[in-house]
Amino acid sequence: MNTTPILRNIKSYVIRKGRMSEAQQRAVDQLFNLHASKQSDNRPFNTLFTTQQEQVLEIGFGMGTSLAEHAQMYPEINFIGIEVHPPGVGCLLNLINEHELKNVHVIQGDAVLALKTQCVDHSIARINIFFPDPWQKQRHHKRRLIQPEFVALLAQKLKPQGILHLATDWEDYAKHMVKVLAANPNLKLISNERGDRPATKFEQKGLDKGHPVFDMHYQLS
Ligand SMILES: C[S@@+](CC[C@H](N)C(=O)[O-])C[C@H]1O[C@@H](n2cnc3c(N)ncnc32)[C@H](O)[C@@H]1O
Repeated sequence: MNTTPILRNIKSYVIRKGRMSEAQQRAVDQLFNLHASKQSDNRPFNTLFTTQQEQVLEIGFGMGTSLAEHAQMYPEINFIGIEVHPPGVGCLLNLINEHELKNVHVIQGDAVLALKTQCVDHSIARINIFFPDPWQKQRHHKRRLIQPEFVALLAQKLKPQGILHLATDWEDYAKHMVKVLAANPNLKLISNERGDRPATKFEQKGLDKGHPVFDMHYQLS
């Protein structure tokens, strides 16, 4: 019997009209086919790299700075970044090129669909979701990425003992995350340390406004 909860489509993002810089557009034109694919191409994660190494996923990488730093720190790990925002894709492609990273693949599109259609169950060592959109208004809370069904999907894709690392600067969202995760019997809170998480653009925005930052590491049993 399939016990996976039915996942409604979460509208966790709006495609902003933000203009691509010339450098980002050039990166997309020249580097996309080398280091990226569209979610709609539906390429299985395990065919994205020529080397078979542990896979780490970053969902909603924004401008990709944390992902590029992690990829430099851990060349023995393959990193898959998923983002809907085209300028962010261009920015990460430039970082991949600048640092000659061989262990990063970018997927442009919706992470929920990517996980559902491109990722084998229990294959991912770690999933990072740093500063997901907090959707502050009560009536928008249903757009938050961290919801029971999505967390169940994340747990389904993690390897045994795999880690889900969440970070937010929005206290109300942190409380929501703790509540949602506490209800999942397969994921256990193991740390509230920042760990080796590099700084991100949204984190800095929060810090500039005096927001505290909350990190949560959950492990799959
Ligand atoms: C608030 S930003 C944080 C970006 C980055 N992690 C940082 O800390 O600077 C959230 C990002 O998640 C992306 N996002 C939201 N929902 C997504 C989804 N379903 N699939 C892929 N990316 C998503 C948005 O486009 C946005 O760039």
